[in-house]
Amino acid sequence: MKGIILHGGHGTRLRPLTHTGPKQLLPIANKPMSQYCVEALVQAGIIDIAIVIGGIGSNKVKEYYGNGEKFGAKFSYIEQDYPKGISHAISLCQDFIKNEKFVVFLGDNIIQNKINEYVSNFQSSNAEASLLLCEVNNPSQFGVAEIKDKKIVNIVEKPKNPTSNLVVTGIYFLTPYIFEIIKKLKPSWRNELEIADALQMLIDEKREIIYEIITDFWKDTGTPIDIIDANKTILENMRESFQGKKEGNVFIEGKVLVGKGTIIKNNVKIKGPTIIGDDCIIDENTTIGENTSIGDNSHLSNCIVSNSIIMSDCTIVGKMNINQSIIASNSKILRKQGETEKKFLLGEGTQIFI
Ligand code: DAU
Repeated sequence: MKGIILHGGHGTRLRPLTHTGPKQLLPIANKPMSQYCVEALVQAGIIDIAIVIGGIGSNKVKEYYGNGEKFGAKFSYIEQDYPKGISHAISLCQDFIKNEKFVVFLGDNIIQNKINEYVSNFQSSNAEASLLLCEVNNPSQFGVAEIKDKKIVNIVEKPKNPTSNLVVTGIYFLTPYIFEIIKKLKPSWRNELEIADALQMLIDEKREIIYEIITDFWKDTGTPIDIIDANKTILENMRESFQGKKEGNVFIEGKVLVGKGTIIKNNVKIKGPTIIGDDCIIDENTTIGENTSIGDNSHLSNCIVSNSIIMSDCTIVGKMNINQSIIASNSKILRKQGETEKKFLLGEGTQIFI
């Protein structure tokens, strides 16, 4: 079986974080979110993987993933000139897939459990598709599945009045027959070739679609708050480890991961779950956590940071309390004692709540 990871799109809801690169490379617990898709596929024995790229900074995807060797996989890159829809992106992979069954993973979808069992169930079935469904409170933001007598009878993309709260997650098990279906699709109201419409066509043709309902963690990381939530859940499930160096009294509570070369100075408190990357300096009187990721090479001093993602090479120095924030790589927040004036150098679409 082969795999496809969708790594294109515009990521507009995540601007300004996506002004310089694709959203699927944004880190969750210090790892690009699409790496969780790669690892789930590789764990299930699917190592021949096409990555569909497009949009701003798509070269960064190639730079990070390379030929796949580091990840135990073999990657082929397929360019999508414009995000014309999930079905469009899948159709570009026809020559790569040839006659095999395959899995499509949306690069911004994160699940906690392995997909091994779903892969083998689909392999041994005669179905044209297998879907993973999940119950949510806000179904109208997704593709919604209606089920009757244990069969999916309807799939509608982002309906105003959803008929159920079971939504189709972004992990699709498909056969090459889907390419014939996609050729017949027409663009939707949002001018995309929708995966929901392709699946509905399979249903209308009375092709078999099987499904499983995921009850554990699944997240479509479409908005900043989704990313902060996903970060929390992934951190909760990591194993603690300390490879850094303590210089003085350091108070650690709960599950904490600290990378190599990181120095933690006197009177620092770290509340888990929290991850701090490699080669960071956490200066005196800093409190980090809970639910916080600090990327490599960052320097924090005197501040409190919780429920946040601070990416690599950031500097946060001075008395301040940062909560529920996402701060991209190479950012600086400096507060001088006694200084009341604030100076900003902000990129387009920046949001600051003071
Ligand atoms: O997350 C699950 C949902 O994903 C499903 O319930 C919906 O049925 C499905 O349409 C999709 O909805 P979204 O509106 O969230 O899709 P989005 O436009 O965010 O794209 C999903 C991923 O696919 C994202 O990582 C970007 C990538 N993509 C998207 C398009 C439209 C591409 O690579 N190329 C594209 O043309």
